[in-house]
Amino acid sequence: MEAPIHPKSIVILDFGGQYAHLIARRVREAGAFSEIRQPSIPVSELKDAAGIILSGGPQSVYDSGSPQADPNILELGIPVLGICYGHQWIAHTLGGTVTSGKTKEYGKAMIRIRNQESGIMQGLPEQFTVWMSHGDEVATLPEGFINIATSGDCMNAAMADASRKIYGVQFHLEVVHTEHGAEIIQQFVSLTDHAPWSVESYAQRIGDEVKKDVGDLPSSVSGGMQPTGKRVFMMVSGGVDSTVAFTVINEVLGSHRVQGLLVDTGLLRKHEAKNIMDAFDLLGIENLEVVDASDEFFEHLKGIYDPEMKRQIIGDRFLAVQKRISEEMHLRIEDGWMLGQGTIYPDTIETGGTQHADRIKTHHNRVEAVQKMIEAGLIIEPLKDLYKDEVRKLGEEIGLPHDLVWRHPFPGPGLGVRILCAESELEIENEELKIDLPHVVLPVRSVGVQGDGRTYRHAVSLFSKTPARIEPHHMELATSVPNTHKSINRVLLCTSHDSPPSFVFTPGYVTRERADLLREADDIVYDEMHRAGMYETIWQFPVVLLPFGTKEGGQSIVLRPIESQEAMTANAVVLPEEVVKRMTDRICALNGIDCVFVDLSNKPPGTIEWE
Ligand code: XMP
Repeated sequence: MEAPIHPKSIVILDFGGQYAHLIARRVREAGAFSEIRQPSIPVSELKDAAGIILSGGPQSVYDSGSPQADPNILELGIPVLGICYGHQWIAHTLGGTVTSGKTKEYGKAMIRIRNQESGIMQGLPEQFTVWMSHGDEVATLPEGFINIATSGDCMNAAMADASRKIYGVQFHLEVVHTEHGAEIIQQFVSLTDHAPWSVESYAQRIGDEVKKDVGDLPSSVSGGMQPTGKRVFMMVSGGVDSTVAFTVINEVLGSHRVQGLLVDTGLLRKHEAKNIMDAFDLLGIENLEVVDASDEFFEHLKGIYDPEMKRQIIGDRFLAVQKRISEEMHLRIEDGWMLGQGTIYPDTIETGGTQHADRIKTHHNRVEAVQKMIEAGLIIEPLKDLYKDEVRKLGEEIGLPHDLVWRHPFPGPGLGVRILCAESELEIENEELKIDLPHVVLPVRSVGVQGDGRTYRHAVSLFSKTPARIEPHHMELATSVPNTHKSINRVLLCTSHDSPPSFVFTPGYVTRERADLLREADDIVYDEMHRAGMYETIWQFPVVLLPFGTKEGGQSIVLRPIESQEAMTANAVVLPEEVVKRMTDRICALNGIDCVFVDLSNKPPGTIEWE
């Protein structure tokens, strides 16, 4: 059963599109608390809400089985805003008509404001660009409503009944492609009597939630009585998310109710475990144990080549180590312990955690065994609704040092998803490539994301006479080639060779030797980034090991610097020539690496990590 709504929250009813969390984020940016619920929630549970936002969704209101909310939500006397499907649902429910639009509108459209006095579009320009995505449209308005905006293909692009504070908007307010979308949400939010949101108040609320989830620990516990409240056992990776989550949980419950465990998987960065211990030491957090389980991880990854299988194995191994240690340390569920995780919102959407999202990658904290524990109420995830930048703000708010909070994100499975494995050289699809530069299709595939779905395709590398110089034309090709060729989802530039060498394939899975080699290359990149003063401007910089080189037994390295805000999309960073050159020269000097590439792909079409 879901927790009751906090009084004065703005409740977002999720009609099944993938945007409810983005709406929630915009509501937080507008300064109000929000909560996402299924449309089937009983109306009685919404009576203390400050307002209701009905999200978009892929269906038509006439489809059998299309999601429905209780019509009485429109009689509660609180402001309601419908977006896309939500807009159509309001019109249909209150007696207007919805028809299949003459023209389906997808993408950017221009709207014209008809009425600025309506309450949610005050002071906006007469015309601006919005993001449309609909087949149906509202043909006639319900009684009491007026038209407040139109677009070329959609007469009733927005409607209002200002006296009842009910609004509907056909276009997506929550996406950045809609100009003034955030402002419209802000104006709606200002019509509600909402609980104010700020990082401080949020920290307080998640603190309250953590306490509620684990229950009170009676003072008599020290007297030997069975506790009713639980304690939290948490795996810490040293990444921003698990560090913030662990600190929040420590802060709220006190260190006597929390135990942290850092598993050295053999897939961490150079000196990582020590650096993490030192950082927590400075914070006075001492309830963190480090366990070296690297042999065990490498043993289980032997002979595994498939990226999803690797994730599965790493996720399962984490749980197995955690189970073993928790038994050794008496931290079992039967002893009153729960498992804490630093999951953030994008982790759940990539695993297909929302109703209609395609599965792109399974995040290790969403493998099946964990899902089962979530269902049984044994997992606590204080950050699960937040985006990365919000987690960082929260981290600073609770007093974590700036450097720790602004560390680049590092995936839970660590270097395991950055060591590409292949048993044999892949046959390359025979597609004719239209590229006006020397190029080679590489004999490996990597994960990408195109049109909301997962792809698993080849990367193509460009070659240039000045190999360390990234030119605007290379960046243009990085966008156009995956768009026009179905076998390609990434475009690289080879920074170590000025013309295509012949590659020698070296079969391999994840081993300690390969992890050590990648760790050295990763450390060089980290060092050069600091030297160039670029650590803070780059959001994340995966370094990837590929199983082929130019000599027998040789391997290659890919540099993948990106900028992003929420990891949902990302842009490749164009590194200065001298930085690329220094990184390439130092990496090529490593024994076993003879080729270096820089990945020029944005996300989409390439994901940030290669697997
Ligand atoms: P992608 O590669 O999907 O990455 O564009 C988005 C962000 O998520 C991180 N990432 C992971 N984090 N477990 C994690 O904890 C995972 O399995 C995982 N895969 C990707 C990635 O580093 C980037 O910041």
